[in-house]
Amino acid sequence: MVKPTQRLAGKVIVVGVTGGVAAFKAAHVVTGLRKLDAEVHVVMTSAAAQFVSPLTFRALSQHPVVTDMWDAQTPYDEPHVALGERANLLVVAPATAHTLAKLALGLADDVVSATALATRAPILVAPAMSDAMYEHATTQEHLQTLRRRGVRIIGPVVGWLASGKEAIGRMAEPEAIIEEILVVLEANDGTAGSGNTGTRRTR
Ligand SMILES: Cc1cc2nc3c(=O)[nH]c(=O)nc-3n(C[C@H](O)[C@H](O)[C@H](O)COP(=O)(O)O)c2cc1C
Repeated sequence: MVKPTQRLAGKVIVVGVTGGVAAFKAAHVVTGLRKLDAEVHVVMTSAAAQFVSPLTFRALSQHPVVTDMWDAQTPYDEPHVALGERANLLVVAPATAHTLAKLALGLADDVVSATALATRAPILVAPAMSDAMYEHATTQEHLQTLRRRGVRIIGPVVGWLASGKEAIGRMAEPEAIIEEILVVLEANDGTAGSGNTGTRRTR
């Protein structure tokens, strides 16, 4: 019988961190996933690395962190392909307005957006931004596009924002993101378990 603490044993989760204030909360997501026995790999945009050091995520995930696809020091020839193929799930938390736009358009000029395009695993995004950015028609249209393609979206929620305002835009709490990951993986269990099979999912 699977112990509650081993609910993600054998699962490979790639956590994409992008450049918002909530990036520090991604550390709690990584820790929570590790506590459930998942193998966690973190990829970050360069903006995310302005908020939290890749070293934090390396220590918490116990795996190298990729922030630069062209860095010859990374252990992968093509990190987005290698991690995209191994992933059972990609979670982008926090997901900035900028990265949501890239994902919707299929742009792939950083390791997070390139991994999103290179994977056939389910994708969960946790938007976090100011209320104005979130409510902007552009962001809403990109979210619609992603939703239509089967990308799961959690939050944002109404709460305290970095600006000091109580409004929509706060990232869903790490516990809620982990719960959603469990739901997505359990729903997808035919293809999840020992790494992505590479089969194309209908999104
Ligand atoms: C202090 C600060 C906080 C920011 N917070 C957010 C945020 O919470 N959400 C967001 O979408 N953009 C935020 N931005 C803007 C993004 O960092 C910027 O759009 C960046 O290009 C995002 O890059 P990325 O999506 O590649 O990580 C912030 C910028 C600064 C300077």
